[in-house]
Amino acid sequence: MPYMVQKQVMTHQLQGEIIPPGEKRVMVPTISWTPEMSVDVALIDEQHKKLIEIINTLNSAIEENAATPVLDQVFDELTEYTRKHFSTEEELLVRAEYPQTVVHKEEHDGFIYQLIAFRNDFENGSEVVSTKIVEFLYGWLVKHILGSDKAYCASLHEKGIR
Ligand SMILES: [Fe+2]
Ligand SMILES: [Fe+2]
Repeated sequence: MPYMVQKQVMTHQLQGEIIPPGEKRVMVPTISWTPEMSVDVALIDEQHKKLIEIINTLNSAIEENAATPVLDQVFDELTEYTRKHFSTEEELLVRAEYPQTVVHKEEHDGFIYQLIAFRNDFENGSEVVSTKIVEFLYGWLVKHILGSDKAYCASLHEKGIR
């Protein structure tokens, strides 16, 4: 009964017990960039793909029960690349005089704030928190791309930004 085995492992995790090194954790399903997520601006699509790739790497590192320095490194890469992506996007929004620029930037700032808060939780070494982090990251990013990011497409195109 594979399902029962899976369920037992999940319960084990939620109790916050430490999984011995070398044993795998239950992984959050990875995601892939899909054409539906395209904002029709080549640079931004590339950055979104890279962001998803980094979160997938973090997810794998958590599943593999990687050592803290490895997780720290991936988390640093994610924070750094997220900042880079947000500033690229914000520059384009300003250039296009996009009316929702301020609100959009506030969403970005909120996400960065969350990343920093998660990093602190992460340092405490709770695996339950780690799994929740990945779920949050996937959820936020996909929702933001499909909603707020896609909403600026037309404004950017009007200014010839593709
Ligand atoms: Fe955005
Ligand atoms: Fe974006």
